[in-house]
Amino acid sequence: MQFKEIKIGRHTLKYPIIQGGMGVGISWSQLAGTVSLAGALGVVSAIGTGYYHHRAFVSKQQFGRPDNTEQFYNREATFQIFKDARKICGNAPLGANVLHAINDYARVFRDCCEAGADIIITGAGLPMNMPEYAADFPDIALVPIVSSAKALRLIAKRWEQRYKRIPDAVVLEGPLSGGHQGFTYEQCLDPDYQLENLIKPVVAEAKAIADNIPVFAAGGIWTHDDIVKFMELGASGAQIGTRFIATHECDAPQTFKELLIACKESDIELLHSPVGYPARGIRTNLINLVDKRQGPSIRCVSNCVTPCKRGVEARAVGYCIADRLSDAAEGNLETGLFFTGSNGYRIDRLISVNDLIKKLVYGEDS
Ligand SMILES: Cc1cc2nc3c(=O)[nH]c(=O)nc-3n(C[C@H](O)[C@H](O)[C@H](O)COP(=O)(O)O)c2cc1C
Repeated sequence: MQFKEIKIGRHTLKYPIIQGGMGVGISWSQLAGTVSLAGALGVVSAIGTGYYHHRAFVSKQQFGRPDNTEQFYNREATFQIFKDARKICGNAPLGANVLHAINDYARVFRDCCEAGADIIITGAGLPMNMPEYAADFPDIALVPIVSSAKALRLIAKRWEQRYKRIPDAVVLEGPLSGGHQGFTYEQCLDPDYQLENLIKPVVAEAKAIADNIPVFAAGGIWTHDDIVKFMELGASGAQIGTRFIATHECDAPQTFKELLIACKESDIELLHSPVGYPARGIRTNLINLVDKRQGPSIRCVSNCVTPCKRGVEARAVGYCIADRLSDAAEGNLETGLFFTGSNGYRIDRLISVNDLIKKLVYGEDS
């Protein structure tokens, strides 16, 4: 199938492919900038930007970590990430991913608007007020991530009633994706909740809202043929996360990439998370220690996500999500938490972003 260019709000992508936002520190300037330059949508993760350039922008630390929400979601570092990404991709459309469940969502969202995002993608919760924070930025396209037609209906209804806006596109994320899931453990394994069975109702819901809302399928999509399969079911394109980690340009440290290359299918699990949803990652020694309640101490220095209730949920599940994801971003194999999609074991080598996009657009042999 020949892919065509696609519009998201006022922005046009050469290829209907979104690189999923990956925090902490996996999709920052290099990955997002290179993907956007190559004609897909590069997406900067706005999570834990205080860790950019080894905390160079953090003015207040405790135990060597960004102190509190303001430092963890660091405005100056976010601006620098966009500046560095723009050096790579120029004026090509560039996205930001801001999780709804974070503390300070409105401020972090606005930081991304001011830093130069063209498209903002929000998951982990229903972003009912997203248009309010974008009111001064009419050119910025707004894209919620949903896991059901009902979620899309609720969001679109509220946006239309309150803000006279509708989503510019939608990402439908199924339960094979990396990181946090929009489902319970049981649903993740239930055939009814697999992406193949979710796509048609979500596409129908998008059509009922307006003619031109593209739906991007996400979660476990690996090849050109996978994208085609979901397009035949009604999707307009795909959002892909894990496969982009295995690129030379990805901002993840080499240890993360090597861990993925070495990992087997049986190493990939759904884990408990202080965010309250199951999260897919690699079983490492950290997870063994956490299971025995012998993980690193939980101090809640960075005060990162609302559902954790300032460390209450972290203590319940046995680890701090901000500290463990940022240790992964800094390449610490012993204490880092390494997220991956369910197909992460298929990675056997690193390639360039350009080669990956060629494979996705034209097939594996290109
Ligand atoms: C390491 C990692 C970190 C992620 N972080 C985020 C995030 O911060 N925000 C988000 O919306 N999705 C996040 N995701 C999900 C991806 O953006 C993407 O939608 C998902 O991984 C798609 O499934 P795939 O990895 O099988 O392609 C993350 C995924 C991975 C693997």
